[in-house]
Amino acid sequence: MLNRQKDMTSPNQRLAPSPDGQISREQLIFLLNEDLAREYQSIISYVVYSQVLKGAAYMTIAKELEKHAKEELDHALTIAKQIDYLGGTPTVAPKAVKMSTDDEELLRLDLSNENETVRNYRERVVQCEALGEYAMAEQIRDILVAEQEHQIDLATALGKDVAEVAASDELA
Ligand SMILES: [Fe+2]
Ligand SMILES: [Fe+2]
Repeated sequence: MLNRQKDMTSPNQRLAPSPDGQISREQLIFLLNEDLAREYQSIISYVVYSQVLKGAAYMTIAKELEKHAKEELDHALTIAKQIDYLGGTPTVAPKAVKMSTDDEELLRLDLSNENETVRNYRERVVQCEALGEYAMAEQIRDILVAEQEHQIDLATALGKDVAEVAASDELA
């Protein structure tokens, strides 16, 4: 039985990882819990946004967002499993979900979250590999593929190019 107290996050575990991805297992648990909180956030936002989009032009993407909600739940389960495997305790708290009465703004909020998620999972793959956790890196790569598809769906619905929106988000 692994020590479940190990994931108690202290301030030094919140330090930014080095560029080569070398982090401690405790830091990885902390960062995966941030990923899990983002997955919960995306489940909530896709469940709600898919229902409140009202414009006739957005009915196709609203259906697509319902599918995203289910995929985000799979991601949350995968990430929670990795946290448990590392001896941590999966968080119960989602990141804050923003709301808007404007359809386009809702899609922009979703896209911005996906950009942030993709950025984080790219780092996580490198960090897992630096720790020799190759199977975990593979699982996160699979999630990354789905998140990039979410980015494309949202960018397309907004009539934008993914590279363009991801880059502008990175500058923000
Ligand atoms: Fe996800
Ligand atoms: Fe996603």
